[in-house]
Formats: sequence, structure tokens, C-alpha cells
Amino acid sequence: MAYSEKVIDHYENPRNVGSFDKDDKSVATGMVGAPACGDVMKLQLKIDANGIIEDAKFKTYGCGSAIASSSLVTEWVKGKSLEDAAKISNTDISAELALPPVKIHCSILAEDAIKAAIEDYKSKNA
Ligand code: FES
Ligand code: FES
Repeated sequence: MAYSEKVIDHYENPRNVGSFDKDDKSVATGMVGAPACGDVMKLQLKIDANGIIEDAKFKTYGCGSAIASSSLVTEWVKGKSLEDAAKISNTDISAELALPPVKIHCSILAEDAIKAAIEDYKSKNA
């Protein structure tokens, strides 16, 4: 498998690895698994009082493309509203990272993690 330079860069220098306290009401946690391969991704967003994502962290147990997808997404969501973050799609991610077709599901994992985090935030703050 030939990985693109962007995948290798995010894989070797992942941005924003770590966790926030999931019980904090300003923290949105999305934990998703890929049925195709069993890999797991946890994405957490820290939301400020105005509903803007001020910080993001991830932990991914998976392949290089999954790690790169989650690393990229933590950069993309910062400064966005939840509504705008929800618009990030796996096609944006796979295009940016030049993922081959067999690795598309890795970028879907990142899209699903954003959506799961937003759902978590809404249910916590309902
Ligand atoms: Fe799970 Fe990629 S198949 S690491
Ligand atoms: Fe399964 Fe990448 S997330 S191979």
C-alpha cells in the first residue's frame, strides 16, 4: 500500500493526540468502530460558550489512514461551529489525504466520529 505524503505526515506527526474529561459538559465525545476492520476511533471536541469548537483531541487504534484521518479532522474542526463541523464529509477527508478506494472506510470513520461527538454533546446539553 503506497500512502500519500499527507497520510505519512499525519501518521508520523499526529496532531492533537489525547483526551479530555468525557464527563465535562463542554466536551463532546464520539467513539466509533469500523465494522470492516475492527479499528476504533475516539474524537473529542471542546465547545466554548458560543458553540464554537475551541479544541479537539483524538485517540485512534487503527491503520495509518484512520490515524491520519482523525489527526486531520482535529485540525479542521477547530474554530468551527458544530453545524459547520457536521458538514465535513469523508469525501473531503479522503480527497485531502489522497486515500485509495480500499481506505475510504477509514475516512468514513472520521466523519462518523464527528457526527457521534455532536450527538453526544446535544444529548448532554439537552
Ligand atoms: Fe484495521 Fe487497517 S484493517 S488497521
Ligand atoms: Fe480500517 Fe483503516 S480504519 S483499515
